[in-house]
Amino acid sequence: MGMKSLEYASVKDRIVLLRSDFNSGVVDGKVLISERIKEGSQTIKLLKKKGAKVVVIAHQGRPGSKDFTSLKQHANLINKLVKIKFVPDIFGKVAENEIKNLKSGQAILLENVRTLKSEFRRRKSKFVKRLSSWCDIYVNDAFSVSHRGQASIVGFPKYMESYAGPLLEKEVEALKKRSLKNRLYILSGAKPDDNILLIKKNKVLTGGLFGPMCLVALGKKLGEEEKYMEQNIKNYHKTLKKLRKKLRKAGNLVKNPVDFAVRIKGKVKNINVKDFPLEYHAYDVGEKTIKNYIEEIKKADSIYMKGPLGYYFERPFLRGTTEILKAISKSKAYSLLGGGDLSEAIEMSKISKKGFGHISLSGGALLDYVAGKKLPGLKALGFYRK
Ligand code: 3PG
Repeated sequence: MGMKSLEYASVKDRIVLLRSDFNSGVVDGKVLISERIKEGSQTIKLLKKKGAKVVVIAHQGRPGSKDFTSLKQHANLINKLVKIKFVPDIFGKVAENEIKNLKSGQAILLENVRTLKSEFRRRKSKFVKRLSSWCDIYVNDAFSVSHRGQASIVGFPKYMESYAGPLLEKEVEALKKRSLKNRLYILSGAKPDDNILLIKKNKVLTGGLFGPMCLVALGKKLGEEEKYMEQNIKNYHKTLKKLRKKLRKAGNLVKNPVDFAVRIKGKVKNINVKDFPLEYHAYDVGEKTIKNYIEEIKKADSIYMKGPLGYYFERPFLRGTTEILKAISKSKAYSLLGGGDLSEAIEMSKISKKGFGHISLSGGALLDYVAGKKLPGLKALGFYRK
């Protein structure tokens, strides 16, 4: 049994509902072109070439977060790679007309599915009911969202002929090949709540927003950075409480930053953690931390890294991530790198990808997979069925 591959589906003249992941970095309201957009566009291209009528659904951000926006800009970016029309609707009259008028070889992108409350509900929603009756087959090409039991991921396979898309398959194949032994986890990025799951019996190095959050959980006062996290991280206090418990148990296995790179009057300076609280943001890990982490990387047999260590959109704060990536690519360890932002940071740092085991477009989904959890999206496609 297992999942059915899109490779063997007949798609010509059929309406294909494609769940992609175009979730990308957003800076000052501007969506940045990402590896997810570039790679996801290839699947649209492939389907169009095969003569399918392609209806793409995707999300950007989470309701309430700063990067929660319409997919209009994504459509503009995708259009540079493959022709697609943006439809500012999901299952209303406008979407229905557009879907019904699609010609073979054409593609449309519907609005952000997370603008719908029913995306987050378990029961069969109108959204799933309508789209599944208008489209012929469903394709999940979003491994990176397959850890979410959300309607656009788990709802459709119950009612439609469903397939695994090429990007999803590529990720799963790469993960099946390697079992990670004696792992070193480098857990960073902007979603600290996901990372808690991996604080168990392995060595962990922390960065991104996760590093400062671990320090706060251990009782350190950080000042401005702490204020930022409190305002921007969902369920901050709840996560902090969980984290505190885990860190107490893990003890020395979890290594946190000992210094941070901050910006003072336009200049980058390294400041020791013991000198905080301060009115500066901790934009990146500092030089001492980088040195400590490189020593740990040299000792590891296998490495899983999630997310960039700093605010990589700004070059000076890409440094921590770049130095750690360089050390990983030189080390003997098999490495698995994950997260949309980390893929971007790898591109920006211009390090050759040859030194890495597998670079994944997934953050949280990969993390759950590495932690041995069953992913609802893969389950819905029949992945775990023997
Ligand atoms: C990601 O960025 O990891 C995926 O797009 C899933 O996003 P989520 O963590 O908001 O569900």
